Amino acid sequence: MIEVGNDVQFIKEGDLCSVPFNIACGRCRACKERMTGICLNVNPERPGSAYGYVDMGGWPGGQADYVMVPFADFNLLPFPDKDQAMEKILDLTMLSDIFPTGYHGAIKAGCTTGSTVYVAGAGPVGLAAAHAAQLLGAAVVIVGDAVEARLNQARSFGCETIDITQDTSIEDQITEIMGEPIIDCTVDAVGFEARGHGSGEGEAPATVLNQAMSITRAGGSIGIPGLYVTEDPGAADEDAKHGALKMDFGLGWAKSHAFYTGQCPVMQYNRELMMSILNDKAQIAKAVNATVIPLDDAPQGYQEFDSGVAQKFVLDPHGDLQGASRA
Ligand SMILES: NC(=O)c1ccc[n+]([C@@H]2O[C@H](COP(=O)([O-])OP(=O)(O)OC[C@H]3O[C@@H](n4cnc5c(N)ncnc54)[C@H](O)[C@@H]3O)[C@@H](O)[C@H]2O)c1
Repeated sequence: MIEVGNDVQFIKEGDLCSVPFNIACGRCRACKERMTGICLNVNPERPGSAYGYVDMGGWPGGQADYVMVPFADFNLLPFPDKDQAMEKILDLTMLSDIFPTGYHGAIKAGCTTGSTVYVAGAGPVGLAAAHAAQLLGAAVVIVGDAVEARLNQARSFGCETIDITQDTSIEDQITEIMGEPIIDCTVDAVGFEARGHGSGEGEAPATVLNQAMSITRAGGSIGIPGLYVTEDPGAADEDAKHGALKMDFGLGWAKSHAFYTGQCPVMQYNRELMMSILNDKAQIAKAVNATVIPLDDAPQGYQEFDSGVAQKFVLDPHGDLQGASRA
């Protein structure tokens, strides 16, 4: 924190803090229930807001030299000890978004001790969900993706993997690992940009949701941090252009599935995940292969990320993270 506004009472200049990606007022009905992803006051268009994100209230930042944090006393999570925090700073940066988001997916999928879990997507959110499932005590964590480097990253911390470009169905691939085509919990860390299952498939936005209903046990839950939208002008079919997906919803109904969607309310989880990091229980930077780059290299970082590299880029505008390690 380099400067505090005149209505900030408790955060002090010099505090080292985590900034949740959600912007929340702390006063509305949703915030009072810690549902900070759907704050009712910070975005005139709809519930929920975020920094520098289209359709999210027009707040600038946070991939910038500096960011203004509204309602700072409510939104910021100060680290208890600056020196201790700097030793784990690469892990702690993940508290702003992907670690709580992945954890939210695992929690809402009902993941607990002994669970068997399928995480669709081995991007940063999927890898974070897989690590979160391990922290929660899952017996088996299976991660699916089309990108071999990302599957390799998932294997590096003990996950089983499924290559979705194979023509073998997801049910058969789960059976090869589990002995049956059923798992306890599914996390969709892909969203509306999902590609179809098999070789040569293009975009098929309902793929992961339909697979989730097929493989999740009756009475199980499906955590959906993956993003779905109300408008997608570039979508392959007319319905999807308006956010309407071809879902086998009757199957989910027949199996009494619970679905949980939406923006992650970071504040529900960030304090506890911070404690797991500070006490060496979580190694999230390693799981997502966190890689520090200067702000000026962001365009190149975006290009590489779009190409599917197994890295989570961390922008370091002032050189504070030079030498920060993942271990
Ligand atoms: N809910 C939230 O608060 C929140 C927060 C952050 C990100 N997100 C969303 O989470 C999703 C994942 O984020 P990310 O940064 O990891 O994205 P990403 O694009 O890096 O990762 C998605 C991965 O899914 C893979 N994939 C595509 N189709 C698939 C399929 N059918 N089965 C399995 N894998 C498939 C892709 O190859 C890619 O590696 C995005 O939709 C993002 O917008 C949500």
